[in-house]
Amino acid sequence: MNRSDLITKESTFGIINHWALAISCIVLTISGFGFLFQIQGIGSAFSGFPAMKVVHNWTGVVFTASLFLSMFNWLKESLTFDSDDIGWILTAGGYLSHKAKVPPMHKLNTGQKFFYLTLLVSGFAIAATGFIIWLMPENKSMLVLSHFIHNVSFIVITAFIPVHIYLSTLGNPGTLRIMITGKIPYWWAKKKHPKWVRELEEGHGN
Ligand code: HEM
Repeated sequence: MNRSDLITKESTFGIINHWALAISCIVLTISGFGFLFQIQGIGSAFSGFPAMKVVHNWTGVVFTASLFLSMFNWLKESLTFDSDDIGWILTAGGYLSHKAKVPPMHKLNTGQKFFYLTLLVSGFAIAATGFIIWLMPENKSMLVLSHFIHNVSFIVITAFIPVHIYLSTLGNPGTLRIMITGKIPYWWAKKKHPKWVRELEEGHGN
């Protein structure tokens, strides 16, 4: 294989799934902020608060479906840990020092795996409580608990997403192409994902 040959890191399913998840999450975050702080400007952008509620609820359905489907793409990889992950944490992924010797990674690095698992747990928590708030408004005690969990998960997700967007764009230039074309040059894959490339070359990776 030549240095500049392209290899597929993300399938078309993975790319469509990612953008459905990302766009729905951003629409939910913006409208969620609007509800939480009663921001009139955001309400007006959705033609008023009642219309924003309808958009928020149905976008929640898209988010939940995308989150569920994402498990076929990233869950197995995100639940696979070995001693290199401990090394990654101890060297902070090389983000704090260029001299740090970061252990070889597979298809996702340790930080990305934790990001996915956090998103999965908080995403399902926000989705389940969102459906309770939407569909069971008469159950008052359930409603109070659901609002609390919904808001805590909202804080977790909104704290992680900007970091994810920064690291996938300006923080690591060139990464965005993965979620546009699905492909990366061989030299890049070998540098950032040597364990995965080794498996591909041995004929048992995907
Ligand atoms: C809108 C701006 C966003 C951009 C530019 C972006 C970009 C990317 C890129 C380039 C990757 C591939 C990273 C790699 O394979 O090394 C990725 C992966 C991923 N993205 Fe996004 N993303 C965005 C928003 C989101 C949002 C809002 C979510 C969640 C709701 C999300 C969830 C994920 C997940 C779970 C992965 C796989 C795990 C990971 O690579 O961290 N993304 N994203």
